[in-house]
Amino acid sequence: MAFKKDSFVGTMIFTVTLCLLCSFMITGTAELLKERKLVKKRDELKRNVLIAADVDIADKDFRAIFDKNVKPTLVTLDTGEEDKEANVLDFDDRMASINPETSRKPKKDTAKIKSRADQARVFKVFDDNGKLASVVVPIYGKGLWSMIYGYIAVQPDFNTIENVVFYEHGETPGIGDFLNDPDWTDKWHGKQIFNAKGKISFKVVKGGAKADDVNGVDAVSGATMTGRGVQRSVQFWFGAEGFEMFFNKLKASEG
Ligand SMILES: Cc1cc2nc3c(=O)[nH]c(=O)nc-3n(C[C@H](O)[C@H](O)[C@H](O)COP(=O)(O)O)c2cc1C
Repeated sequence: MAFKKDSFVGTMIFTVTLCLLCSFMITGTAELLKERKLVKKRDELKRNVLIAADVDIADKDFRAIFDKNVKPTLVTLDTGEEDKEANVLDFDDRMASINPETSRKPKKDTAKIKSRADQARVFKVFDDNGKLASVVVPIYGKGLWSMIYGYIAVQPDFNTIENVVFYEHGETPGIGDFLNDPDWTDKWHGKQIFNAKGKISFKVVKGGAKADDVNGVDAVSGATMTGRGVQRSVQFWFGAEGFEMFFNKLKASEG
């Protein structure tokens, strides 16, 4: 029997073949892009962690530096236990923080995050002699308009700030975007999270921190609300519902 392409059956075969072809092309492209997106996400993470740790990556192979000097680990926040075998780089912390099975509502939500993932990524950064140089932890919390995401590095006393980077926020351009100004973030270097009694005392000080204030960073005039959000975020993530247990364990193991 001769095949008639303008018959009903012919039209159906043509339509189904075209649909199948298109769906294969879309699936294939999505798969290709998925891998590319993952690589981009990993690169962004590596770059931000190294900037937070104050490692000079200008004109350097940041991937090689990260692979050589950084040990990522996944921490269970309530116990401080580390899972070194986890696929830390691809851990989806945003998803983990909204999935009811992997998160919970903070008892004291000072950072206004609504729900906190049970686990978080931590990055131990070593110098070229294999000595611990800093520990980078992710922080986030509500500013005036938006959630502000960053990484902060502390030196091996787990108190003195090495550097900080804010990589995502929706604060007002020209007002709240001082977060990305190196002149402002440079002021964090050497400041301490805790006071001499071990109480969390880091603050962003309206009107400017006094010269001898080891816990205070200057607020930016006209943008106090964003600064206050950042302060609360640091206080939350270094507190009992943040990395406190992890740092206590690390302190004990480092002797
Ligand atoms: C349109 C608009 C956008 C603003 N955006 C921000 C902002 O992103 N971050 C911020 O802290 N304050 C922002 N402010 C200012 C705050 O409302 C508030 O006045 C300020 O944070 C207080 O800081 P000050 O006590 O140093 O004046 C904005 C104000 C207006 C009118």
